[in-house]
Amino acid sequence: MSVQWFPGHMHLTRQAIAERVKEIDVVIEMLDARLPGSSANPLMQQLTSGRPTLKVLNKQDMADPARTALWLAHYNAQPDTRAIALDASVTAPARALIDACFELAPKRGGMLKPMRVLICGIPNVGKSTLINTLKGKRAAKTGDEAGVTRTEARIVLADDFYLYDTPGMLWPRIFVPESGHNLAASGAVGKNAYDEEEVAYELMAKLKTDYPALMEARYQLGLSPEAWAQTHDDELVEAIGRKRGALASGGRVNMQKAAELVIADFRALHIGRITLETPEQFARWLKAGKQADAERAARKKKLREEGHISPERKPKSDKRSAARKPH
Ligand code: G4P
Repeated sequence: MSVQWFPGHMHLTRQAIAERVKEIDVVIEMLDARLPGSSANPLMQQLTSGRPTLKVLNKQDMADPARTALWLAHYNAQPDTRAIALDASVTAPARALIDACFELAPKRGGMLKPMRVLICGIPNVGKSTLINTLKGKRAAKTGDEAGVTRTEARIVLADDFYLYDTPGMLWPRIFVPESGHNLAASGAVGKNAYDEEEVAYELMAKLKTDYPALMEARYQLGLSPEAWAQTHDDELVEAIGRKRGALASGGRVNMQKAAELVIADFRALHIGRITLETPEQFARWLKAGKQADAERAARKKKLREEGHISPERKPKSDKRSAARKPH
C-alpha cells in the first residue's frame, strides 16, 4: 500500500526526540498489542538505539493473550529490553511500568539522579490514556520549562521520575505492505490514507485462517473452519455484507459498506480478541519488505545511472548548508 503520512510537524518531533534522547535513561516504546511489530516505529528505533527500552504492549485487553505471550517472550529475550502488556486505563499495572524502568536503569533514582524516561508511540496507541492513568493527581505537567521543547512535555511522576512525552509519530514510508494494512485496520492511520476494501480483504485473509471460529460465531455464515480458510477474501466480505444488509440498489452488496463493517467490527472488539501478527510472521514480512526495497532502490539507481530518470534531489537541509558556505 503506497501511503504518504509524514506531515511537517512530524519532522519537528523527530528533531526534538533526537535532542532529548541524549539525556534519557530509558525509552518506553508503546506498541499496539494487536500488531506489535507493525506498530513499532523504525525511525524511533534508529533515534533511540542503544538506550534501554521498555516495550509496552498496550490494549492487551483487545489482543489475543496467547500471541501477546509470544511477543513478550520475543522482546524479553532481547538485550537491554523489557516488555510488559498493559491495558492503559488500569492503574495498578501501569505502576509496574515505573518499576520496570528502575530495573532497566538501576543506577538512577533519588533527587540527584532522577529517572528520565522518554515515552513514544504511534498516534492512537494509547499514550495519553496511559500518561493520564500514571499521573493520577500527583503529577504536574511542566511543558513550559526551559529546555523542554514545544513538541514535548515533561511530566513529573515522582520527585525522582520524569517522563518526557512526545507527540505520536508515524514514519515517512511503510515498506512492509502487511504493516501498512495492519496499521490501517487498527485505526492508526487517517481514513484518507488507505482504501477500505483493500484493507478489509487483507484483514479477512488473516481472520479467516487464524480466527475462523470467532468469525463464524460473529457472522454465522454456516462455514466450517476449513471452509472459512478456503473461501476468497472478497467473497467472504461480500457474504458478510449481504447478511448484514450492506446493500445498494437492486439488492447488490455495497462492498465499500461491507468493508467498513468488517473493519469497524474488528476495531470494536465485536469479533473477539485478535492479534494480527506473530513475531515469526512479522520477521518474515520485514525481511521480504527490506529485500523488495533494496531491489527497488538498486533498479532506480541503475535507471538513474543510465540517464533514464532525473537525478536524486538533495535533501533541503543539505541545500541550505551548501548555500551558507562562503564562496
Ligand atoms: P494516543 O494518545 O496514543 O493518541 O492515544 P489515546 O490515549 O488517545 O487512545 C486512543 C484510543 O485508544 C482511545 O479511544 C482510548 O480510550 C483507547 N485506549 C487506550 N488505551 C487502551 C487500552 O489499553 N485498551 C483499550 N481497549 N483501549 C485503549 P477512543 O475511542 O479514541 O477515545 P475514548 O472513547 O476512550 O474517549
